[in-house]
Amino acid sequence: MLLLVLLFVFFISELVSPVTIHSPSGKISLTFTLSSSGAPQYALRFKGRDVILQSRLGLTAADGLNFSEGFMIEKTDSLVFDETWEPVLGEVKQIRNHYKELKVTLSKSEDKKRIMILIFRIYDDGAGFRYEFPAQEHLKYFIVKHEFTEFRLTGDHNTFWIPGDYDTNEYEYSETRISKINALRGQNSSEISTRSIIGDNGVQTPLMMKSDEGLYINLFEAALVNYPAMHLTADREKYILTAHLTPDAVGNKAYLQTHARTPWRTILVSDKAEDILASKMILNLNEPSEIEETGWIKPVKYVGIWWEMHVGTSSWNYSDVNNVKIGETDWNSLKPNGRHGATTERTKVYIDFAAKHGFDAVLVEGWNVGWEDWFGSWKENVFDFVTPYPDFDVEEVHRYAASKGVKMIMHHETSGSVTNYERRMDEAFSFMKQHNYDAVKSGYVGRIIPRGEFHDGQWMVNHYIHAAKKAAEYKIMINAHESVRPTGLHRTYPNWLANEAARGNEFNAWSAGNPPSHETILPFTRLMGGPMDYTPGIFETKMSFYYPDKKEQVHTTLAKQLALYVTMYSPLQMAADYPENYERYPDAFQFIKDVPVDWDDTKILSAEPGDYIAIARMEKGSETWYLGAITDENPRTMKLPLDFLNTGVVYTAVMYADGKDAHWETNPKSYMISKKNVKAGDTLELVLAPGGGAAVQFLPEK
Ligand code: NOJ
Ligand code: CA
Repeated sequence: MLLLVLLFVFFISELVSPVTIHSPSGKISLTFTLSSSGAPQYALRFKGRDVILQSRLGLTAADGLNFSEGFMIEKTDSLVFDETWEPVLGEVKQIRNHYKELKVTLSKSEDKKRIMILIFRIYDDGAGFRYEFPAQEHLKYFIVKHEFTEFRLTGDHNTFWIPGDYDTNEYEYSETRISKINALRGQNSSEISTRSIIGDNGVQTPLMMKSDEGLYINLFEAALVNYPAMHLTADREKYILTAHLTPDAVGNKAYLQTHARTPWRTILVSDKAEDILASKMILNLNEPSEIEETGWIKPVKYVGIWWEMHVGTSSWNYSDVNNVKIGETDWNSLKPNGRHGATTERTKVYIDFAAKHGFDAVLVEGWNVGWEDWFGSWKENVFDFVTPYPDFDVEEVHRYAASKGVKMIMHHETSGSVTNYERRMDEAFSFMKQHNYDAVKSGYVGRIIPRGEFHDGQWMVNHYIHAAKKAAEYKIMINAHESVRPTGLHRTYPNWLANEAARGNEFNAWSAGNPPSHETILPFTRLMGGPMDYTPGIFETKMSFYYPDKKEQVHTTLAKQLALYVTMYSPLQMAADYPENYERYPDAFQFIKDVPVDWDDTKILSAEPGDYIAIARMEKGSETWYLGAITDENPRTMKLPLDFLNTGVVYTAVMYADGKDAHWETNPKSYMISKKNVKAGDTLELVLAPGGGAAVQFLPEK
């Protein structure tokens, strides 16, 4: 909902370069320059300090089209924009979108006249710019070959990076100087099913950096629509990062038809790390909701038949045969393997559990035929999304869930066969509606069929949006796994609740896992673009609990698993552990039951990428506050001023903290719960164990 828009146009003396434009408060400035050879360039400063030195802009296209030099300035336009809008679901009730815009219309007329417009928006916490190609006589269709957008940095900044990869983001982060980036080193290749690494100097965005002078800089993109995702390649000697677009199966980058525009290239900057996490610039650079009536879009806290497959006590597949085929196999004739997770009976256990503890929904994976044949192959028609296994009675599950007031979440694993999914999508969504499902978890494990497109290429970027729009037609909410990382499009498609698109908690079940620093980095990187279905809430953190020989484990304490519900914003959150495990720790489980997933306010209290994060949030439509604090592998004592609480109100703080001897590796399940009265102005001391955390609920006294 839009609350208020103010707009006024001001003029900058035309046709001159350089042109400098300041953010509303003046903190940030961007200078546009057209070089003597007509090459567009820009530079960015924060409080008078250089952030991005004069850097190249432009792109080239097939047929010798060069949009990087030989330009003249046709005109410049500027305006100030100020609006306040309300997200459908979110971290805060209202968002202010306040920027100054500079629009530079460039033309070149070597043979024929062609026009490219550069649009810059300067906010108080950063800047975004995009290339726009208006409809014009001599430019109708063109194929982007290279984008030259550069970010020339002022030094060898400390950088939190994952390898640039066209297919996956499911990596551990490395923290090094730019000069030490080596994206080919030390990545365990067997953990991720489909990988397409760019090279030793390629990294992904969002890229988080910190300069020696204490500036926090984040490079990313917003509104990724009809264009490939942008990675960056690093010049490790000159500290220059250059856009690297994901190609398609034949090496082209983007097929465009004018009027066309690229996503926004974004730079966030502040001398406080907290400002990076509080920024709403990425959302603001996206278009308002295309969905008018949004009353059906609801936050979802869920449980599901899922972790047990990752742990290995259940299977997705019903039988262990390996020669099955949709349309031919008689599923009733298969011999069950005895470990199938998605049975009607087991689903009822989860439905009962959800109903008893107030969860909105239950996810069931492995309910549909085809799982005997899904992994590590390149096959069409593995799944049809409408045929349940013989031991999963959709009608009965529907009836039972409805009788308990619980929603079911559908699962659509596509195994990379996107053509198959698109063909069957209407049927699949209709099937969902018939059986009362209004949310779907989709998945894109494997190489993309039929042409070997990459997960981050233009073709797939358009597919994910197509799926979100199609789902909206059916009033269905979406959670896509193995998709491109989000870029704020949940403003435009608020039914697109969350994505995976990073290394989730599941890696802790079957791989080297996620180091204790992982969750202190994700909010500065992957979460910049939108919510993640991280699936927190694991209480039995050691896989030896199930199989004595297993070494895998979650790399946090139990209390940190609770804190993640606050530090990792998502309107869709799972309580991922087995119901039986929660039943054994009812006092700690109480926090997961209470914590909301939709908020009226958020305060970033304290943060440092790679080290720690503390965030407080106020529940939607309530005065109750929640606080999550997490640390990396180092123990930490945090002293947090409770300035966010309403003055004059006494709160009961219910604190879920690490036990005295807690440690993510040696003693993860040691926790303690205590209560005390607090008020605004007090300081709360929290002691976090190595790999630990704390979760606090502040209940206003009546
Ligand atoms: C990968 C997803 O991230 C995971 O959550 C899911 O269980 C499997 N694919 C199977 O679809
Ligand atoms: Ca995944």
